Amino acid sequence: MAYAAGVDVGSTQTKAVIIDEDKKIVGRALTDTGANVVHAAQNAFKVALEDAKLREVEVEYVIGTGYGRYRVTFGNEQITEISCHGRGAVQMFPNTRTVVDMGGQDTKAIRVNEQGEIVDFCMNDKCAAGTGRFLGAASMALDIPLPDLGTTALRSLKPVKISTTCTVFAESEVLSWLGKGKKIEDILWGVHQSIAVRSAGLMRRVGVDSEITFTGGVSRNQAMVKALSDKLEMPLNVSEDCHYMGALGAAIFALDRIKTSRRPVQPSKPEAEVQS
Ligand SMILES: Nc1ncnc2c1ncn2[C@@H]1O[C@H](COP(=O)(O)OP(=O)(O)OP(=O)(O)O)[C@@H](O)[C@H]1O
Ligand SMILES: [Mg+2]
Repeated sequence: MAYAAGVDVGSTQTKAVIIDEDKKIVGRALTDTGANVVHAAQNAFKVALEDAKLREVEVEYVIGTGYGRYRVTFGNEQITEISCHGRGAVQMFPNTRTVVDMGGQDTKAIRVNEQGEIVDFCMNDKCAAGTGRFLGAASMALDIPLPDLGTTALRSLKPVKISTTCTVFAESEVLSWLGKGKKIEDILWGVHQSIAVRSAGLMRRVGVDSEITFTGGVSRNQAMVKALSDKLEMPLNVSEDCHYMGALGAAIFALDRIKTSRRPVQPSKPEAEVQS
């Protein structure tokens, strides 16, 4: 049995996935990227190997992706995260035509064909307003752990309208609403809705085609799934593995490479035939 791996070194979190020849996930890891990007990649791969109960030599091909993909020093190749999220999403949900990847730093809208190849994409330019970082700022300001943001926001009955579009000002706006006596859940639901508006705008720039698959760490947040689905008036594909989608796509590309290398080499034509 051959195994392939993808390591997605994101700006915030590093994900590693190991798959078998049937594209089944046999091991995975999720760690914070931190300051030492090379170490983050190595550590995530090590944890995924332990999870899969495999030795490093048993993994034939490794592809690095994400912003730190060139720091995956043990990798055989690097591929952009746009391509990997597209490929992973179509693998997991074959009817996917639009992918929205919300990570710690970027939000990307990607349009794919049925093979999972990129048709078009668009991303927020150096502005974290529509991303996990915006939620992180709200979570700090309100002193609510990230995994509880969604469930808290979903209790809201009267959301506030968040006017800032800048992460730097999000904290002060959140605090000012608190000072005015607004409920935490209403402020939080307002923050989610504001991110959904920006993300839906980004998605419309590439064209929203059903089915839509939501990837990246923010897809774990149930309130974000609801806010975005309400805004687009369409359901979104999400699963527990959506946070690992870039790493999964990279692992699928790695498996392609293993299978291609096994194909018998076509015999070259005799010289006389080539010349005629
Ligand atoms: N359990 C959770 N519940 C809610 N949100 C979460 C959870 N885990 C992670 N997140 C969110 O996901 C974000 C990280 O997502 P992801 O790992 O996709 O980012 P990244 O790949 O490092 O970033 P980028 O793609 O922008 O470089 C965090 O900033 C956080 O907002
Ligand atoms: Mg990412």
